[in-house]
Amino acid sequence: MLISGNGSNLQAVIDAVALDLPVDIRAVISNKADAYGLERARNAGIEAWVLDHTQYPDRESYDQVLAELVASFKPGLVILAGFMRILSPHFVNKFRGQLLNIHPSLLPKYRGLHTHQRALDAGDLVHGASVHFVTEELDGGPLVLQIRLPIENGDDEEKLAKKVLSQEHIIYPAVIRWFADGRLRMKGNSVSKDGVTLKGPLGMRYHEAPPA
Ligand code: GAR
Repeated sequence: MLISGNGSNLQAVIDAVALDLPVDIRAVISNKADAYGLERARNAGIEAWVLDHTQYPDRESYDQVLAELVASFKPGLVILAGFMRILSPHFVNKFRGQLLNIHPSLLPKYRGLHTHQRALDAGDLVHGASVHFVTEELDGGPLVLQIRLPIENGDDEEKLAKKVLSQEHIIYPAVIRWFADGRLRMKGNSVSKDGVTLKGPLGMRYHEAPPA
């Protein structure tokens, strides 16, 4: 798993693995040495690595080393969990179909940063988070599952972020489980689940259980 910060999504996956999620988290890699997620990994007995991007002259050289480090663990799936860097085409193509990301908006709305504030500024009534396969297009790969939740009176950026994050912790392990069970595949630029090509992302509402 690749992280840059707090690692609460990483923790959700660690907790799900402790319960019954059939994956083995081989390593956690952060581009930042002070990412709290590294501590979460160590506490769970998972190898924690720092690969500091500031030590590399450009994105390509960093991503080259990152790709080699990731590949050394022979992962079946590479999970981006708050990894706040754009990945170069070389990296993305090397792990094509095995690379998942979670993003705090209802993609294709609000790619990039400050998604909660942007949803509030736009006067949106509904907001959420998306899990998608990663392609060369930033926050643009085929969508798998989205959680939708209402923006309520009195929600500010912080409250909304908290609400969305709590739901990310549900949808990410659910999607990872589908992948681990061999039920989910990226096919070209779309996704198939249980052999059926999805016409769009699967959806889940606030306080609902993820689809089976
Ligand atoms: C999460 O909200 C995740 O969706 C977001 O960063 C946060 C990481 O939280 N990712 C992105 O914005 C990627 N474009 P965490 O470190 O507590 O899991």
